[in-house]
Amino acid sequence: MMKKYLDHPIFKILSDIADSEALETYVIGGFVRDIILQRPSKDIDIVTVGSGINLAQKAAKQIKPHPRVSVFKNFGTAMLKYGDAEVEFVGARKESYRRDSRKPIVENGTLDDDQKRRDFTINALAISLNKDNYGELVDPFNGLEDLENKLIRTPLDPIVTFSDDPLRMMRAIRFATQLNFKIYDETLEAIATNKERISIVSKERIIDELNKIILSPKPSIGFKLLDKTGLLSLIFPEISKLKGRETINNISHKDNFIHTLKVLDRLAQHSDNLWLRWSALLHDVAKPATKKFSPQFGWTFHSHNFLGAKMVPGIFKRMKLPLNEKMKFVQKMVDLHMRPIVLSEEIVTDSAVRRLLFDAGDDIDELMTLCEADITSKNKDKVIKYLNNFKLVRKKLKEIEEKDAVRNFQPPVSGELIMETFNLSPCREVGTIKDAIKDAILDGIISNNFDEAYQLMLKKGQELGLTTTKDS
Ligand code: CTP
Repeated sequence: MMKKYLDHPIFKILSDIADSEALETYVIGGFVRDIILQRPSKDIDIVTVGSGINLAQKAAKQIKPHPRVSVFKNFGTAMLKYGDAEVEFVGARKESYRRDSRKPIVENGTLDDDQKRRDFTINALAISLNKDNYGELVDPFNGLEDLENKLIRTPLDPIVTFSDDPLRMMRAIRFATQLNFKIYDETLEAIATNKERISIVSKERIIDELNKIILSPKPSIGFKLLDKTGLLSLIFPEISKLKGRETINNISHKDNFIHTLKVLDRLAQHSDNLWLRWSALLHDVAKPATKKFSPQFGWTFHSHNFLGAKMVPGIFKRMKLPLNEKMKFVQKMVDLHMRPIVLSEEIVTDSAVRRLLFDAGDDIDELMTLCEADITSKNKDKVIKYLNNFKLVRKKLKEIEEKDAVRNFQPPVSGELIMETFNLSPCREVGTIKDAIKDAILDGIISNNFDEAYQLMLKKGQELGLTTTKDS
């Protein structure tokens, strides 16, 4: 009996209406799955054998103050908000169900028709709201057993379920990742067989699922399944190309796909920031394109950070990710991801720390978190050494930031003042002097204040053969 789960006040209201209107009514789908799994759930999906819109309007009348009912007539659905819950109403149907579908409904059906056209057995569970069997679980496909056994399985032949909506192939992998479930063998095989069908699904729907995989506690589960089924090379060839090791003269490089997934999993333990997780996913994306072998240096990936940052906009555009400051953040992280490591390999000088702070600005903490996740060496001593050095870098970053405030560097002497002092119009010399002042501050030759910067400006001007307005 599932009565104990039905504590939201909407259920009592719906139960009364269902009985007085003689409407078979159920709560169904993700809400039922999540309450059994004791996960937080916000959307409540109600299915009724009759008009969902009519039921929603009747329910709204019983709630004080009356909520607004949003009606989507063509799709036969309605939605209202009650407390913190969004409640969606649909009439049971014979066609495949999905919440984001823009297809009008054609044929009404029974509860059983509706359940079998849903994506997975664990998403097809329904609980009755009618008085005579209130709280009874209606589970024709053994969804409860699959929940207990942690299995993702389609209610019908997977070929049918996936051809109803090929995005479900990605949803299977997404649920497996979020819930740490296994995909039933036959279901997994059907994904591999039908993978090409993903091409008819919109980029927006695909990226929604991919982002959910990336935001899961252990995203590598999803990426390994995407790879295993062959979906990865179709939706994200750049990541698929990271796979494999090559050996020349007995020297191998690491498998960058495995490494990337380790970094992403490690980062996931420390940050829920989607864009930092994207940065982890893309940090080595240009390694295949920059890979070289030389007998002297072995494998190198020169400037893979720089080329990687350049690849980000193309990837974001194709995948319909935002082309705004989120993308710029990912570019910056990819570009800078080796800097703290290089820094910690050497003696950590103030000047190097100041330059890092200048380049990373307010994103310095995220950058450090990414770099710590990037230490995946199997050599324990090496890892300890790196992480200790990072602690030192972080400490220095703090000291220098307090002392020099270079995080959001503003030049203490402006271009205008330089032009005024030497009676110049905008020209190259102005830039040269500005850069000299910036470098001197970052290298610790002068402090970040007006007086010292002003003196240096005069000196540099003289070196360039400029005369001040006072001289003339
Ligand atoms: N559904 C489906 N096929 C889809 C999408 C959804 O059969 N392609 C059904 C499932 O029964 C699902 C319900 O619609 O449980 C609600 O869909 P949605 O809100 O997308 O997913 P949830 O299962 O609620 O999970 P989440 O909120 O994590 O996305």
